[in-house]
Amino acid sequence: MHLIAPSLLSCDFLRIGEEVQFVNQSKADWFHLDVMDGRFVPNLSFGLPVISAVKRYATKPLDVHLMIVEPEKYLSDFRKAGADIISVHIEACPHLHRTVQQIKELGAMAGVAINPHTPVSQLFDVLENIDLVCMMSVNPGFGGQKFIYRTLHKIQELKAEITQRNLQVKIEVDGGVGLQNAEVILKAGADVLVAGNAIFGDKQPAEVIEKLKSIQVDKFEF
Ligand code: DX5
Ligand code: ZN
Repeated sequence: MHLIAPSLLSCDFLRIGEEVQFVNQSKADWFHLDVMDGRFVPNLSFGLPVISAVKRYATKPLDVHLMIVEPEKYLSDFRKAGADIISVHIEACPHLHRTVQQIKELGAMAGVAINPHTPVSQLFDVLENIDLVCMMSVNPGFGGQKFIYRTLHKIQELKAEITQRNLQVKIEVDGGVGLQNAEVILKAGADVLVAGNAIFGDKQPAEVIEKLKSIQVDKFEF
């Protein structure tokens, strides 16, 4: 069964406590938290204090997506703040194998995020060492962008590799995901759907989560 990870980037920050309670009570599985540094991506979002605050109220795992340069410097801080899953960008990690090992040593699930233009084959030599691939289906930095359809082929390619090697790595798809495209994304092989604008931008966010969660996919298409 696939997982749903609402991205708090699109929530109402003035009411963040209520937004956290809303996700707690919904059918969603994880909290997706987007950390931006204004260097790896051309935007700033939030950091450690916000994550610690969310952790105090969250009853579901915190999935922290680090869109920052030199993420290795802050891994232990994010873990202490309450991150259960930590994803670093392949494009920001010259020593990716070491960085993912550091995440595992901290007791978190290790994820690697990958930009739309980066070939998935670059992940193949660390697949044994990670728990999750965060496949970017928009250029990271902003919520509410349009899904890049070329990404579907990348999901399929990655799913085929994971299946063939009999690994348990989850594929998370992040950016422009909503009710209009969730089914094809799941059919391509996604295990986790991140959605920000599609959930928090809707007047009936609980129903959107429920609908995203209840999509049935019998078989993958690769
Ligand atoms: C983009 C972030 C996403 C973003 C998704 O850089 O990584 O997690 O919040 O937002 P939507 O679903 O609105 O595209
Ligand atoms: Zn994200």
